[in-house]
This record gives sequence, C-alpha cells and structure tokens, in this order.
Amino acid sequence: MINFQALSDKYATPLYLYDFDHITTRYNALKEAFRAKKSLICYAVKANSNLSVVKHLGDLGAGCDCVSIGEVNRAFLAGVPAYKIIFSGVGKKDDEIKEAIEKDILMINLESEAELARVELMAKAVDKVARISIRVNPNIDPKTHPYISTGLSSNKFGVDIEDAKRMYIQAKKSPFLDPVGIHFHIGSQLTELDPIRESSEVVADLVRNLKALDIKIKFFDIGGGLGIQYNDETLINPYDYAQAIFSTLATLDVTIMCEPGRFLVGESGYFLTKVLYEKTNENKRFVIVDGAMNDLIRPSLYNAYHQIEVVDKHDNVSKADVVGPVCESGDFFAKDIALPHTEHNDLLVLKSAGAYCYTMSSNYNTRGKVAEVALENGKDRLIRKRENFEDMIALEKEFIK
Ligand code: LLP
Repeated sequence: MINFQALSDKYATPLYLYDFDHITTRYNALKEAFRAKKSLICYAVKANSNLSVVKHLGDLGAGCDCVSIGEVNRAFLAGVPAYKIIFSGVGKKDDEIKEAIEKDILMINLESEAELARVELMAKAVDKVARISIRVNPNIDPKTHPYISTGLSSNKFGVDIEDAKRMYIQAKKSPFLDPVGIHFHIGSQLTELDPIRESSEVVADLVRNLKALDIKIKFFDIGGGLGIQYNDETLINPYDYAQAIFSTLATLDVTIMCEPGRFLVGESGYFLTKVLYEKTNENKRFVIVDGAMNDLIRPSLYNAYHQIEVVDKHDNVSKADVVGPVCESGDFFAKDIALPHTEHNDLLVLKSAGAYCYTMSSNYNTRGKVAEVALENGKDRLIRKRENFEDMIALEKEFIK
C-alpha cells in the first residue's frame, strides 16, 4: 500500500508518483510472453520520458522508441545502447536525421518516400549507411479513440503496402541505405486483438514478398498500443498478444520488436492533488484542486477517464466536477463523478497517470511543472524537481528591454 498522505506531506502537491516495481512487473510479463522468439521491447519514450524511468527500463533490457532527437538523446543519457534505439515519426528534420545516423542507432523508421530521399541524402552527407525500416499503414480500424488511432489511410502515418514495396526496392539499390526492418502501429489504448492480428498478417505477407525480392527483413516491429485499465476496459493479455503475432509469422526468421509506452508505465503512475475549496451553485458541486489541465491534460483533451479517490474519505458522497485553477472551462479532471464531501487540504489521487500525463504537461498560466517521485523497494526518491518561478523565466529574463 502506498502511503499517499505521507508522500504528499514530504514532497507537496501537485505531484506525480511512479511505482518502479510495477514497471518491472509489466516489462517482465511482456518479455516473457514473447519468449518463444527473438524479441526486443523498445519503450516508447514519449509516454514518460523522465530519465530515471527510461534508465529503469533500460536496465531491465529495454530499448527505446524515440520520436525526436531529444528523445534519442534521453535514451543515450539513460544508458540505453545505440543498437537498441529506434527513431520514428512523420516529420524528422535534416539535423535530427544526420545526428541519428552519426550516432549509429539501430534504425530510422521512414514514413514517406520524400523522407526516404532525405535520409539517403543525409547518410551520404555523413558518408555512412543508414539502417532503415518502413512504417506500413495497413488501413485497419484499431477501434480506439479517433485522436489516438493511427492505422487508417485517413491518418497521416506510414505508407500503404504498394508504396512500401517500392520504397524497399529503392532502398536496396542505394549504397547509403540498408533496409533491415518493417513497422506498423495502428493506434494507442487498443483493447481488441483482431485489428492487431489482421495488421500483422498484412505486414508479414509483405515481408514474404520482399524476401522473394532478396530483401531480408530482420526486425518485425509491431508498434505499441496495448491498452491499460483506466475504467472498466477488457484488456488484451500479453500472452494472447504474442501468440496472435506468432500466428502470422509462421516460419519467418525475424526479431519481433514492439514499442509499448502506456502498457509499461501507465498504471504505475499516480497524480496527487489537494483540495483548495468546494463550491456549489444551484446546478453543480465543484471540487477545486491545486492540480490543473497544464499538469494532466488527458481529460480536457480526449475526455479521458482517470479514476479519482479521496484519500481516507468515503462518506457523504454526491456528484461533483473536479476542476483546477486554470482559466479555461476545459480545465477539469472529471465531471459528475460520485465523490465524498471534501475539505481544504484533503488529498485526491488520480490513477493510471504514468503515461502521457507528465510528458504532456506545460507551463500554461505560468504554473511550474510539478515534481516526480519514484517508488522502488519500499523507498521513495525524487526523480524530477518541482519547477520554480526562476526556472520558468530563465530563457526569457535576459531579453526584457
Ligand atoms: N509507437 C508509435 C509509432 C507511436 O506513435 C506510439 C504512440 C507508440 C509506439 C506508443 O503507444 P502506446 O503503447 O503508449 O499506446 N497522448 C495520447 C497517446 C498518444 C500516442 C501516440 N503514439 C494519450 O494520452 O492517450
């Protein structure tokens, strides 16, 4: 049991807590599920890019899936070796591509023909061979929230099968490109296995076609997307996930790569916030807390649900909106949820806050980013300081005229 009260007394609120032991359990469960084949789990750094979180996963054996050179450099700083780092994303800049090639990472994931030409040019400029993979858009509906669905041709991600084939042929001809991988990622917070299996089938067929053209794909990257528990979702079991992928590969000799973010870190995280006031009008009860949309934007952005508990209070329950101090009507954590009556300084815990929460936070309303704390082996330790006013103005102060 985590002593939320003691931790909020020690570190103040708002605050993020991450249970590192939980992250270990999740990583091991996934690795174990893929045991029958060669596999590499590349943690999607965007989910939670705190260096200590990345290092924890790196120490367990994970690689990193990065979407900017900043994330690539975080992975390096956390001690993840170059041969386990991949670089994805629809819009990479020349200097990012160049740096990734020079740092000799495992591969760069391409999402368009135009990008293939750029990567070839950058590889030539630094006189190196760039290992690449191509993100295929299998055009399959992942059945998740439209904002986090990525595997349909109406989405900006990847290229269709025919284009991919052409790109592989082109890459094979180039002395500066080495096509070693193939990739798909159809969306996030996936709770249905069928679209994943179908996508894997489509992509595995392409790998077989490529083999016939003497293009040997070594890395079969199935993306991320495994859903987690926010509310009452039925989840995909890691074992079933692995078996579904295996069933599409048959005798193909590939290393299976996956890029989970949320699955590894999401449920490990808690967001702690304290009640400032309650106020009621003729329509509504509002519980106003010290955390806000700038700290955790998922409810405002996606109408996402995060379970909220009031620590040590269970009585006098009625409907309430939990809202923050930011000047936006969209600044809420929950609407019309059943919540016990609260008083000043009561502590609220938002669950499943380990993924896409801190990483999507901002300084809106000149609110400092909050502190982050790791829990491991019964101990707690600070892994990111709370930002103060000086931190927030550091890059602009010198320019006041
Ligand atoms: N690989 C690729 C290419 C991705 O685009 C993503 C996530 C992942 C892996 C990791 O997906 P995961 O395993 O975490 O589902 N901000 C949204 C989620 C955006 C996901 C973007 N891509 C949210 O708060 O729900």
